[in-house]
Amino acid sequence: MNKNELIEKAKNHLEKLIEEQFSRIEMMKKDAGWVDYKTLKPIIIGVCWGDGIGRIISKHAQRVLEHTLRSEIKAGMVEFRVIEGLTIENRVSHGEAIPRDVLKEIKACHVILKGPTTTPQEGDKWPNIESANVAMRKELDLFANVRPVKIPSEGIDWCFFRENTEGAYVLGSRGIDVNEDLSLDFKVATTQGAERIIRLAFEYAKNNGRKKVTVVTKANVVKTTDGKFSRIAKKIAEEYKSFGITSDEWYIDIMTAKLIDPARRKDFEVLVMPNLYGDILTDEAAQLQGGVGTAGSANIGKKWAMFEAIHGSAPRMVDEGRDIYADPSSMIRAAAMLVRHIGFPERADRLDKALEVCCQFEKKFVITGRDTGATGEEFTTYLLDWARNENLEKEWQKFSGAV
Ligand code: IPM
Ligand code: MG
Repeated sequence: MNKNELIEKAKNHLEKLIEEQFSRIEMMKKDAGWVDYKTLKPIIIGVCWGDGIGRIISKHAQRVLEHTLRSEIKAGMVEFRVIEGLTIENRVSHGEAIPRDVLKEIKACHVILKGPTTTPQEGDKWPNIESANVAMRKELDLFANVRPVKIPSEGIDWCFFRENTEGAYVLGSRGIDVNEDLSLDFKVATTQGAERIIRLAFEYAKNNGRKKVTVVTKANVVKTTDGKFSRIAKKIAEEYKSFGITSDEWYIDIMTAKLIDPARRKDFEVLVMPNLYGDILTDEAAQLQGGVGTAGSANIGKKWAMFEAIHGSAPRMVDEGRDIYADPSSMIRAAAMLVRHIGFPERADRLDKALEVCCQFEKKFVITGRDTGATGEEFTTYLLDWARNENLEKEWQKFSGAV
């Protein structure tokens, strides 16, 4: 192709992307409102086990969930459905990030507990299909990726609000190799998309007695998309001043440094940011809490919500026969978030506290990821024993120094 033909090809590609984003904006403008779980009988929980260690750790989380919601299950108020087809083998055999019939099953549920799924990269043994996570976030319009990180002994109680349907991700599989020398990716920000995630972060602060919302961008360099995010955040922050909530803005590079600065990090409370920065920052935050294997994540939309670990499927652990030693606490955190989301906050608090006692304080069964530590099953039994223990609250207070 000559230069003009290459430019024409790129223009056509971009035109299609812009049209799709315009339709997405129209959809966001229609806004059907939030689902009310109290009106759903039963609430249907779909479980996708995923790949790699997901096949093991999501079953442990399912066990915790079934225990926590046992009376509702018995009363027919909550129903579980296992959805088998979200495996890399099935996805590859259909050549789709989420095969159509699997997506239909997922959409027939109200909330999903999802184990880690393999995300191929060029050069892997799998074809380079789109990530199932990213596809599900887009398909179900799960715009808020909410990731709490808690270190009670340090007074750290962070809640990250990662934008989940735009940024560098939404067109991450739709970039273009214009020719062999020039490759372009696209980063997207919309007014509606930025507003809804930023507003959700401020609402969370308001409803949970938090006093500060930190906005993370690189708006000094990425001037258009991050510039929009920053501008909208400033406007929304004005509205929340009267609730005693302050707001500040940090660039992503210095933010990653401040998170490991013990003198400053406990000052952060609620943080909101575009997609890719949230991906990176939440792995760093999780590492401070004890590793990515300890952190859960809620992907929230107005109609559906999906709960998962923040990490991947760790195929290496499976290859080395270490999958039974994988840490299920990320998926159990996700299960606790699911329990909270569908309307049982006290039970979710108990699970969170039991996790903190088991992972950060008492540590009777420690997961090391190898046979030097406990298996995921032993850990789950230990966790459930604490969740049932009537002294949990008292012991948690004692362990955490009652911060
Ligand atoms: C996460 C993961 C995913 C992401 C991958 C598996 C696509 O890293 O949930 O943070 O990048 O969002
Ligand atoms: Mg990540």
